[in-house]
Amino acid sequence: MYSIYLGTPEDMELLGEAIGKTARPGDIILLEGSLGSGKTTLTKGIAKGLDVQDEITSPTFNLIKQYGGSLDLYHFDLYRLEEEKELLHLGYEEYFYGNGVTVIEWADYLDHYLPEEYLLVRITYGKGEEVGREVDISGHGARYKEFVEELKYYDYSGD
Ligand SMILES: Nc1ncnc2c1ncn2[C@@H]1O[C@H](COP(=O)(O)OP(=O)(O)O)[C@@H](O)[C@H]1O
Ligand SMILES: [Mg+2]
Repeated sequence: MYSIYLGTPEDMELLGEAIGKTARPGDIILLEGSLGSGKTTLTKGIAKGLDVQDEITSPTFNLIKQYGGSLDLYHFDLYRLEEEKELLHLGYEEYFYGNGVTVIEWADYLDHYLPEEYLLVRITYGKGEEVGREVDISGHGARYKEFVEELKYYDYSGD
């Protein structure tokens, strides 16, 4: 696991950008963290790393939004998922096992649709006086362990 403290939203975007640049076709990135922790901010960075030109907005009601970039970005936000079945209706497999990059906010709700291999990013609030975020990144499967190693080469401090 790779743990970093990110002091500002800009640093969070820099991490996202690095993730976007490191991503390969078919990669799945799961985001966990409470409301306001920075998942969408991170996704905006990922979009930047993938050269997505459109503005990223939360896919609140339709649960998924697709964007074109150097690779397609499939942005899920499962906050409003009521039943797991909805994922079947969305045709989630087309995305998870497609050639774009899947990013899922509230991945904690995936439960038995959890893919076998993925990059997991867990965001928590800094402790005490710290206003930033603690971010734990772990790779599940060989591809994603390598992904984590690549992320260690970037610098995420914007100042
Ligand atoms: N590393 C960080 N340090 C401080 N504030 C952050 C950080 N990352 C994101 N934020 C801020 O947290 C707020 C919520 O971010 P957002 O990405 O919308 O959260 P979520 O999608 O998890 O609900 C925004 O105001 C954002 O600028
Ligand atoms: Mg969000």
